[in-house]
Amino acid sequence: ATYKIGYFVGSLAAASINRTLSKAVIQLSPSELEFTEIPIKDLPLYSWDYDNDYPPEGRALKEAIEASDGILFVSPEYNRSIPGALKNAIDWGSRPWGQNSFARKPTAIIGTSPGGIGTAVMQSNMRSVLSFLDAPQFNSEGYITFDADAYNENGECTDESTAGFLRHYMSEFAAFVERVLVANAPGHI
Ligand code: FNR
Repeated sequence: ATYKIGYFVGSLAAASINRTLSKAVIQLSPSELEFTEIPIKDLPLYSWDYDNDYPPEGRALKEAIEASDGILFVSPEYNRSIPGALKNAIDWGSRPWGQNSFARKPTAIIGTSPGGIGTAVMQSNMRSVLSFLDAPQFNSEGYITFDADAYNENGECTDESTAGFLRHYMSEFAAFVERVLVANAPGHI
């Protein structure tokens, strides 16, 4: 089977190291996974004033989440938490009340930073948010300390140890997506 993975890049920076990581992750993923980016940069700041009439960017975001079999977040850690642009996108996807697009969606979180803890605190914060949103979470942790020499100009990971980790992580995520989709199918409790 093939599974559609919608992915978020939590950075708006042109030279984002997390965008670099996202390219490497996609290249190292099993061929059963098909990736589509869910863009966040043009979303207005969310307010519940929009709930009666979502703008096109908000509708497109919710449709992209709902059309995905699984969701991958590739994000930096800003000030020990989730970057504001990504949190804003999650808020859009979670509303209007009762129409949370993340419910029952299998999710995974990975990220990179120059520092040694490799976005661990952001990921911990993300798990609280995704738990509240009833999104099943892949348990494996992907904390990647960024080494510029480990990626070429096409975003390919040239470091065998990191590449091996990412390949295994994504193959396990594919299996997790499959398990959640089976459990979500009609006829299962
Ligand atoms: C950072 N950075 C950072 N790094 C980290 O490991 N923990 C942190 O809490 C923070 N906080 C933080 C706040 C803000 C506002 C910025 C701009 C940066 C450093 C960060 O990891 C580094 O700039 C990365 O390049 C960010 O990833 P992107 O945006 O390049 O993908």
